[in-house]
Amino acid sequence: MATEETGEHPIKSEGDIVTCRKLIRTAAVAAGFGMTDVTRIVTAVSELARNVYVHSGSDGVMRWEILYQSGKVGIQLEFEDYGKGIPDVDQAMEVGFTTAGTMGMGLSGVKRLMDEMNIKSEIGVGTTITIEKWGRAK
Ligand SMILES: Nc1ncnc2c1ncn2[C@@H]1O[C@H](COP(=O)(O)OP(=O)(O)OP(=O)(O)O)[C@@H](O)[C@H]1O
Ligand SMILES: [Mg+2]
Repeated sequence: MATEETGEHPIKSEGDIVTCRKLIRTAAVAAGFGMTDVTRIVTAVSELARNVYVHSGSDGVMRWEILYQSGKVGIQLEFEDYGKGIPDVDQAMEVGFTTAGTMGMGLSGVKRLMDEMNIKSEIGVGTTITIEKWGRAK
């Protein structure tokens, strides 16, 4: 797979979740993130891509960009879906809150793993979640 510093991939199937993971693992390694951060980033991708697939009731897209800024390297990711939206974002962020009978650990886990996380959601329109992780540039 070619390494790109920016790109996007649709989230429409279970297989897309796997592809999103691979794309971001490759991009993060190439950008110089250490293995611990690569694992954190890929875990976050997994959770957010799966949420689009499982919860949105529609499809979506993952976009990413590698950023370099004063001796630091960053990755910014956006997960946008065109689904039903999240009625109460604060509640969805709580550890253990789920509408699917699963663990309800995804969003709170992502928040813990990343440096920045922002959720925008509108009922019947969709959800956009952006995350950022920064490390020392090699
Ligand atoms: N893209 C989305 N569209 C609509 N609802 C969402 C979306 N992402 C999350 N949610 C809502 O937020 C809840 C919490 O999400 P979270 O990822 O924390 O837990 P979960 O997916 O239910 O379980 P887990 O991730 O632990 O398997 C979900 O159960 C769902 O109701
Ligand atoms: Mg989840």
